[in-house]
Amino acid sequence: MKVTVVGAGNVGATCADVLAHREIANEVVLVDIKPNFAEGKALDIWQTAPINLYDTRTIGSTDDYSKTADSEVVVITSGLPRKPGMSRDDLIATNAGIVKTVTENVIKYSPNAKIIVVSNPLDVMTYCAYLTAKVDSSKVFGMAGILDTARYRAFLAEALNCSPKDIQAVLMGGHGDTMVPLPRYTTVGGIPVTELIAEDKLNAIVERTKTGGGEIVNLLGTSAWYAPGAAAAQMVEAVVRDQKRIFPCCVWLQGEYGLKDIYLGVPVVLGKNGVEKIIELKLNDAEKALLDSSAKAVKEVMNVLDKMNNAVSA
Ligand code: NAI
Ligand code: 2OP
Repeated sequence: MKVTVVGAGNVGATCADVLAHREIANEVVLVDIKPNFAEGKALDIWQTAPINLYDTRTIGSTDDYSKTADSEVVVITSGLPRKPGMSRDDLIATNAGIVKTVTENVIKYSPNAKIIVVSNPLDVMTYCAYLTAKVDSSKVFGMAGILDTARYRAFLAEALNCSPKDIQAVLMGGHGDTMVPLPRYTTVGGIPVTELIAEDKLNAIVERTKTGGGEIVNLLGTSAWYAPGAAAAQMVEAVVRDQKRIFPCCVWLQGEYGLKDIYLGVPVVLGKNGVEKIIELKLNDAEKALLDSSAKAVKEVMNVLDKMNNAVSA
């Protein structure tokens, strides 16, 4: 069983490494447009097999999608990362062009693949892949919620001095500063988090989570890759092993949460068919208002993409 990762940069190579190391696929094909780059990364990852004791083959390709044929899942990480001072939305024009071309190539060789988009601005790039792929929306979804929730859970684990394994949380909305972590749906070993931490400290963690991507951009001068790569690999695993896991993912909403024709982060069940169910949580008025405001921000950027597409086709 084959999984393709497009973009052999920081996030893509990390994702491929996790997929191989954990034997989530038999074969991982890494594709990049930069000559020999994916081949080099794939070879380096393959040479960890005798050390890390796994069998997954990692193969590199410079823009040759015939090697990706019949992939069960394709992860798209190709695109520019955020630089300091740059918002995710600044990336839209360049990355939309890249995601469109890549999706056309992916679908040509793997028409039944589940496509997981990682490129930013995430919600809108997932929409771009969906428009291009012309397949059922259950097969095109984006990675952001697992990463954003992981940041929230890691910050909480630090503050509570407990294992991150015991923290369960839900986070919704767009992958940007309007994202909506949900303390009311956050538990630590089954205990509501609100019983374990003071409100002001919890609020500070929620705020830090919202700007968690930017915090790393400011430290590194580019965006994060270890957690994003691992998060994308976790989604691949849920699909190829048909795990029916519940994760916050960026999916196409058609009336759920009162929102229509928008890609937005909500909790879903992920299995062999991709997005198998969208879970509709009961939100209180304050939570719903935050989700609506996040949806509005995402919709504005989706409209930018629609205008660009209309200008091209006019
Ligand atoms: P990077 O610059 O390290 O890697 C991107 C790779 O894409 C480069 O190797 C580049 O040559 C390749 N590429 C560009 N155009 C291509 C094309 N047409 N076909 C194939 N490959 C192409 O960037 P990094 O850090 O890996 O980030 C990748 C993307 O993921 C960025 O857009 C970044 O903003 C986004 N990101 C999203 C996250 C999320 O939570 N959804 C988290 C972290 C990053
Ligand atoms: C992140 O959240 C920038 O989207 C990227 O790390």
